[in-house]
Amino acid sequence: MYIFVAFIVAAVIFVLDIITPLGVAAGVPYVALILLGLKFEDRQWFLRLAYGSTFLIIIGFFLSESYAVLWVVLLNRVYALSAIWITAILLYMYKGESLRFREAFRSSTNGHVVSDDKGIILAVNPAMERIFGYTEEELMGENITILMPKKNGMEHSVYMDSYIQTGHKRIIGIGRELVAKHKDGHLFPIHLGIGELKRKRQRNFLASISDMTEITRAQAAAEEANIAKSQFLANMSHELRTPLNAVIGFSEIIKGQTISDLGEERVHEYNDIIHTAGTHLLTMINDILDISRTEVGAIKLNLTPVDLNTLLRSAINTCLVKMKENETESELVFDDNIKMGLFDSKLLTQVLINLIHNASKFTHKGKITVSAELVGGNSVCLKVNDTGIGIPEDHLERIFERFAIVDNAMSRNHGGAGLGLSLVQNLCTIMNAEVSVKSEINKGTEFTVMVPYKEA
Ligand SMILES: Nc1ncnc2c1ncn2[C@@H]1O[C@H](COP(=O)(O)OP(=O)(O)OP(=O)(O)O)[C@@H](O)[C@H]1O
Ligand SMILES: [Mg+2]
Repeated sequence: MYIFVAFIVAAVIFVLDIITPLGVAAGVPYVALILLGLKFEDRQWFLRLAYGSTFLIIIGFFLSESYAVLWVVLLNRVYALSAIWITAILLYMYKGESLRFREAFRSSTNGHVVSDDKGIILAVNPAMERIFGYTEEELMGENITILMPKKNGMEHSVYMDSYIQTGHKRIIGIGRELVAKHKDGHLFPIHLGIGELKRKRQRNFLASISDMTEITRAQAAAEEANIAKSQFLANMSHELRTPLNAVIGFSEIIKGQTISDLGEERVHEYNDIIHTAGTHLLTMINDILDISRTEVGAIKLNLTPVDLNTLLRSAINTCLVKMKENETESELVFDDNIKMGLFDSKLLTQVLINLIHNASKFTHKGKITVSAELVGGNSVCLKVNDTGIGIPEDHLERIFERFAIVDNAMSRNHGGAGLGLSLVQNLCTIMNAEVSVKSEINKGTEFTVMVPYKEA
């Protein structure tokens, strides 16, 4: 379209040029042709039009009749060419600047909005669509308050009015954290910076917006982790202090006394208490170290051919003493379809011993069933089922947290620290296995571990 207009303009000027008495600067109107270049996206058009004009001026020189002295004619043509080329080069450079600005504006990952002093949106960049969900067309001509919650929108209008009247700045030229409104209505945190674009009479504002949703989420997660760490330290100090007090207290009593002072029976009794407390401390410290090692990625998966039946049987055997103490029997139900498979024998044993040991601790005169079943050819479903005291429903979802002990006399009596299941969960994550629990109070508990299986 503009090429057609340019062609007509050039033709008219050319005709005027060859019919006008020379000596007049007949080529100067070609500057209008160069100005047409503003309508084209590509700034090369300024140069193309300037070449075209130069060509026509030279042709015009030869085609028109000369009514004037040659040097005057030539001088006029040179003036015309200078006007054309200076205009073309200046516009070419100007457009280069504004193109660079436009490119930066459009490719920025931050959202940018240009609005006038009434808050009417004059321009937005594509990032705004990603952040707010509105297309460029939807935003153009709207008031900027469309991007804010209602309350902030009103504040914004009052603030802008007062700024325009008094010049009192609150966020112009600086940034601040605010809440913005997405097209779908949800509110989210942003960082907003506003700069003023002063033109002669017009006052426009450029708002730069960064979506802070992810950063805010990460901050909240970090704070939560920090609180969890403090909680963990507080719990740990408490748990460590109890057995340590027993060790110090009873060794204090023995200190400086002879066996005959105390009586042999007492000495044995105190010694037992110190030994139990010391062993408990060591187990707890080992568990804490194991949990830390799983969390910092120090434990790597090591798959080797494992006979799962043997592994399960020896895990049960490790807990037989406790079962005997509690007069509880055990059974192993094994699916013969499970062949020699690739497992991390150390990690899997640790998981099963923890689960079977818990079952043995919390089941009296009952039964523990450990089972393994092949599921879908690529997983094995391991279950540790007991007919023990069960876990109250409100504790079930926290049971894998550290120090999550059910607050009843029986759990307390067993002297566990509540670290075993937390370790089980971390070990399962390393093995790409999933652990879950079902329980009914006074009926029993069933822990399930779905572990990936591949024949060795
Ligand atoms: N089979 C089960 N039956 C009933 N309650 C259970 C069973 N397994 C776990 N629990 C409850 O869950 C709590 C947490 O178990 P976890 O294994 O993490 O800790 P713990 O056995 O008390 O101590 P630790 O394993 O550190 O020696 C237990 O204290 C107990 O209250
Ligand atoms: Mg345990």
